[in-house]
Amino acid sequence: MLEIQFIKQNRTIKAVEGETVREAAIRNKLSIYPHVFKALNCRGRGLCHACAIKIVSGNAEPKNEIESEQLAKKLKKDPELRLACQVKVLDNMTIETHV
Ligand code: FES
Repeated sequence: MLEIQFIKQNRTIKAVEGETVREAAIRNKLSIYPHVFKALNCRGRGLCHACAIKIVSGNAEPKNEIESEQLAKKLKKDPELRLACQVKVLDNMTIETHV
């Protein structure tokens, strides 16, 4: 088991290697979505970018094609942004949500 620390929520959850950050958060009943996006999101299909996060520490695979396309405009301002529904947990991580 790996651990993900969520800074804004002040919580650390257990994660299974290979699941996405979103899947781990949902399994641990932790919302990664801001405001109305708790109900209005694409359910992890990489279409809404409501699950944007920053990985503060921990290793992850490089951005995939979906992240690069969906975050194209935002990445110009902040190249560190990722999508929780696309990032697989491969390491202990510290994450900032609602970015
Ligand atoms: S849940 Fe919509 S892009 Fe991640």
